[in-house]
Amino acid sequence: MKIDIISVVPALLDSPFAHSIMKRARDKGLLEVNCINLRDHTTYARAQVDDYAFGGGAGMVMMIEPLVNAIESLQKDTFYDEIIFLTPDGEPFNQQTANQLSLKKNLLLICGHYKGVDQRLRDHFITREISIGDYVLSGGELAAAVLVDAIGRLLPGVLNDETSALTDSFQDNLLAPPVYTRPVEFRTWKVPDILLSGNHAKIEQWRHEQAIQRTEERRPDILGRE
Ligand code: ADE
Repeated sequence: MKIDIISVVPALLDSPFAHSIMKRARDKGLLEVNCINLRDHTTYARAQVDDYAFGGGAGMVMMIEPLVNAIESLQKDTFYDEIIFLTPDGEPFNQQTANQLSLKKNLLLICGHYKGVDQRLRDHFITREISIGDYVLSGGELAAAVLVDAIGRLLPGVLNDETSALTDSFQDNLLAPPVYTRPVEFRTWKVPDILLSGNHAKIEQWRHEQAIQRTEERRPDILGRE
């Protein structure tokens, strides 16, 4: 899978994909991530990419022209399954969307900045708008990093058995059950006996019950969700 990201601050994306599971995915050739500097595609003086909002009001707006230049130059080589704009007024990102997007071949992510982008870009180029939560970030880069991470770890071959995504929280509309490792006892706090019993059927049943209990307590809204 290839994910291209258009940004005015590409340096923000240097680190998130250079370590751990994302690094492994890239090293194995399962995930390609390219960051494109929007300022390389503007024809305006001093690499300008934003301007005042028509009608007045505080905050700059990203101009359509540099973004279209960047998108169309990338489209010469790549057909994108989705062109995604990261924005707080987009559809809320969740595991189901991550699962869906992990099946695509090429994605283009566009990171917003300032007061947003000229609506005409959204009307004519963007195929999907995604928010990572009900709060406002300074720009879309951290949101793009969240998408790439959540999607990248689902690609076949990226995770091994021990880290399998199938047992993640949210995959079956349940939060993950509690986990324990050595030592068996720390400051009188013991690992539940059932986990030391060696009875795998009982352990699975316990984990399932714990997952349901945890979800009922913490996120009753996701139980039974489609
Ligand atoms: N850009 C700024 N805030 C954002 C958010 N919550 N989700 C996605 N992109 C954003």
